[in-house]
Amino acid sequence: MNKKTPAKVSEEELDLTNYSLITRHLIMPNELNPNHSIFGGQLIAWLDTALYVYLTGVVKYKLMVTVGMNNVHFKKPAYLGEIIEIYGSVKQVRKSSVTAYGKAIAVDASTGISRLIIQCEITYVAINDKGKPVAAFANFKI
Ligand SMILES: CC(C)(COP(=O)(O)OP(=O)(O)OC[C@H]1O[C@@H](n2cnc3c(N)ncnc32)[C@H](O)[C@@H]1OP(=O)(O)O)[C@@H](O)C(=O)NCCC(=O)NCCS
Repeated sequence: MNKKTPAKVSEEELDLTNYSLITRHLIMPNELNPNHSIFGGQLIAWLDTALYVYLTGVVKYKLMVTVGMNNVHFKKPAYLGEIIEIYGSVKQVRKSSVTAYGKAIAVDASTGISRLIIQCEITYVAINDKGKPVAAFANFKI
């Protein structure tokens, strides 16, 4: 039998303890892929921007670049007209780099049922005006 079963999302994955809500987006027609669900690159762009905004507020440093994305998992599709919430949580702060966990969740306002759409980790590096890494967080304490 070729019946597709939906991907399982554990309670743990939907647990947002220690996460902050950063942004909300309404999925628009020009953000869909040919399969009529949201384009993955759009989700990555939302997460990259949102976690940047979130982390600049945490570390109080405004000039950073994205250096790495890890553990990117697309869990479930999301569709036109759905509302996507982007959440972030600090994973680690090192000398010049800071890493956040990110999650995007589709929320059905009428039922209150949420689905985890994507989770990932993104690392940013503090740079100076010449684009070189700076030890901006050497004395940072959470
Ligand atoms: C980010 C950049 C300035 C780092 O320069 P670099 O000379 O490679 O830096 P270093 O090797 O000294 O590493 C600097 C920090 O980044 C971390 N780092 C480097 N590559 C990493 C990766 N792939 N994932 C996670 N962290 C990484 C290092 O561990 C180090 O962290 P720490 O100082 O907190 O210990 C450089 O790679 C760059 O300009 N990349 C392009 C960034 C970009 O254009 N992004 C897209 C648009 S925002």
